[in-house]
Amino acid sequence: MRDPAFPHRHLLGIEGLTPAEINHLLDLSDRYVAFNRGQERSSEALKGRTTVNLFFENSTRTRTSFELAALRLGANVINMQVESSSVAKGETLIDTAVTLNAMHPDVLCVRHPDSGAVKLLADKVNCAVVNGGDGSHEHPTQALLDALTIRRRKGRLSGLLVAICGDVLHSRVARSNFLLLLTMGARVRIIAPRTLIPAQVDRMGVEVFTDMNAGLKDVDIVMMLRVQNERMKGSFIPSVREYFRFFGLDRAKLSQAKPDALIMHPGPMNRGTEIDSDVADDFERSVIREQVELGVAVRMAVLEVLAQNNRAINIGKVA
Ligand code: NCD
Repeated sequence: MRDPAFPHRHLLGIEGLTPAEINHLLDLSDRYVAFNRGQERSSEALKGRTTVNLFFENSTRTRTSFELAALRLGANVINMQVESSSVAKGETLIDTAVTLNAMHPDVLCVRHPDSGAVKLLADKVNCAVVNGGDGSHEHPTQALLDALTIRRRKGRLSGLLVAICGDVLHSRVARSNFLLLLTMGARVRIIAPRTLIPAQVDRMGVEVFTDMNAGLKDVDIVMMLRVQNERMKGSFIPSVREYFRFFGLDRAKLSQAKPDALIMHPGPMNRGTEIDSDVADDFERSVIREQVELGVAVRMAVLEVLAQNNRAINIGKVA
């Protein structure tokens, strides 16, 4: 039977999820946090199942985290090395998907540099698909792990004031976070130079600031973003020095936020560009390592629910 609290076949984005569905994934993730902190750390929830990590873009933590999550659930895991596969020989995304699908995996975890590519792929396969980041569109498991980190530290999401700062224009992390945080009743500010603010973002219901000191005033959460040079076609920032001076998080700018505000970053960090090591490594306030830890738990929850749903869907088809 499909999980009635999260009946979806895929997790392609946060868009369209209800607060109850998000809470369900977070509750399940919470259980896996305790599990991962325990002695045993191995379950049979996905015994006999296969997950495939198909990454068309570089990744350290996300791919490792999906892999570890699947292994802890007892699944078999395949990591597709895209550079050495047929993709390098010119096989299209869809051909790759159809080929992998013919081998009957249960879940495909996919990262791709083009927005929308993961959805395209999901339409061609009959296994479950998790979006591990598509272009500057969505990165749902990152938003879920960020939400779990906040919820565990602050006890809630609703009513909190969250500042998302930096290269919002190129950031799928920012987009998935707006969608999730606004759905859960948080207030969201973005703080960025004009060149890195997406058009019409204010229509999504976020407040926009171009000044860090003004934008950080009284916030509960300071979420920094990496300056994504690889996605920039042209020049968006004058220089690293200039960027750090106005938009880099340091002790002085942080003093505008609430005294108990948390510092977050999805990684990888550019120290000295968007964040000063002094605040990144302040373990009273920085929860950056905890985000990585909780990422495994969130991915375990997502894999478990989707594998269950996928099985129910395919049994339904045979019957
Ligand atoms: C993010 C990503 O790849 O979108 N990183 C991650 O998943 N931990 C953010 C980034 O690359 O800056």
